[in-house]
Amino acid sequence: MKFKIEGQRVLKGEIHISGAKNSALAIMPACILLNKPVILKNVPDVEDIRTMSELLKYLGAKVHKISKNVIEIDPRDINKYQAPYELISKMRASIYVLGPLLVKFGKAIVYMPGGCSFGPRPIDFHIEGLKKLGANIKIEHGNIIAHVDSFKDAYIQLPFKSVGTTIHLIITSSLLKGKKVIISNCALEPEVVDLANFLNKAGAKIKGAGFDEIVIEGVDKLEIDEYEIIPDRIEAGTFLVAGSFENNEILVKNVIIEHIGPVIDKLLEAGINLKIYNDSILVKGVKKPKPIEIQTYPFPGFPTDMQAQFMTLLSIADGTSIIKENIYPNRFAHAYELMRMSADIKINDNIAIIRGVEKLTSAIVNATDLRASASLVLAGLIAEGTTIIENIEHIDRGYEDIEIKLNSIGASIERIL
Ligand code: EPZ
Repeated sequence: MKFKIEGQRVLKGEIHISGAKNSALAIMPACILLNKPVILKNVPDVEDIRTMSELLKYLGAKVHKISKNVIEIDPRDINKYQAPYELISKMRASIYVLGPLLVKFGKAIVYMPGGCSFGPRPIDFHIEGLKKLGANIKIEHGNIIAHVDSFKDAYIQLPFKSVGTTIHLIITSSLLKGKKVIISNCALEPEVVDLANFLNKAGAKIKGAGFDEIVIEGVDKLEIDEYEIIPDRIEAGTFLVAGSFENNEILVKNVIIEHIGPVIDKLLEAGINLKIYNDSILVKGVKKPKPIEIQTYPFPGFPTDMQAQFMTLLSIADGTSIIKENIYPNRFAHAYELMRMSADIKINDNIAIIRGVEKLTSAIVNATDLRASASLVLAGLIAEGTTIIENIEHIDRGYEDIEIKLNSIGASIERIL
């Protein structure tokens, strides 16, 4: 599947931000531990959610799509503790089912999640954390084979503020009745907090989410009737970048301002005009952004998931910008595609030096991962001519109806085979 984008169209109008993919991907596997059905609202209608739904159905759960953004999950008939390669390999977040299956059955066999285009994506922190909770884990023939005789109290110091490890250990610890688990050096991302809010509403006892140390006292029952997922801060940031280009004016609606502080800060530093309301932001584009320096960090630092989008913005800045990617070893695949569109970027290890050019020119480019795809869509919107982006399956994983939303405010994006 490809996108065909006519460049240099003016974008003016309103964009409604969908639910947060990475919050839904944490909350859905947590439903394995519920003892009654739950209705999840504001779930983004994207491929990764369909993949997670398929995985839960494979395990025996009933997953019913009530409407575009509302799903009901009934975990009561889950009867499998094994997750096969073909489901796990599609999406890294599938690893989150390992812990809850271990809690539910005392054993679990989950295939190793794959890497992706920006590095190995190891899960050693997850494995070490589960072992500290009492699990016995070995890896054979690509499968993670886990069993537990009895869970135990644990103090788990994370080597890095890993989002997935924090999420995985919170889910697993929440239903360990009588056990106390302390996780330190936690990730502070809003999606971690949303998961903790969901579980606490279901009766869990989780304190400290959003801070460096989380204390979980396991309970013996989790049930919740319904929950609304937070809006997607990365989708919001992506559309703010779209509105940053010359003559564009976009009202980005359904935003939790404190979730995108560092993105707002860097857009203002680049000279972009922002008017901030209580749950929306009006962005007005400029002819040339100012060059800036960016370093990606765990929340509340500048998000790595916004790095690619900013590289497109800075590719036409009035000077030379620097981006240092501190989270992943080589998350710059998009740079080489942007260079096909006349961007002037030098990559040196985890540093990108972006020399602003007059304009980007259209080309045939290849999407390599979710956020790289977003950066190429943004590039196609401003490039002179018609850009073709191949492999846009990547973008469908995490952006709900992106071409429909952009075409509704003046873009010309066509989905072609
Ligand atoms: C989550 O991935 C997000 N995915 C990613 O978003 C995001 O880029 C990342 O957090 C960082 O914010 C989901 O939430 C589904 P990490 P995750 O564990 O949990 C290393 C998107 O675009 N590490 O915080 O995998 C790891 O290699 C996606 O929506 C280990 O070494 O990220 C990375 O260098 C892309 N061992 C760093 O830690 C481990 O066991 C941060 O990874 C785990 C992680």
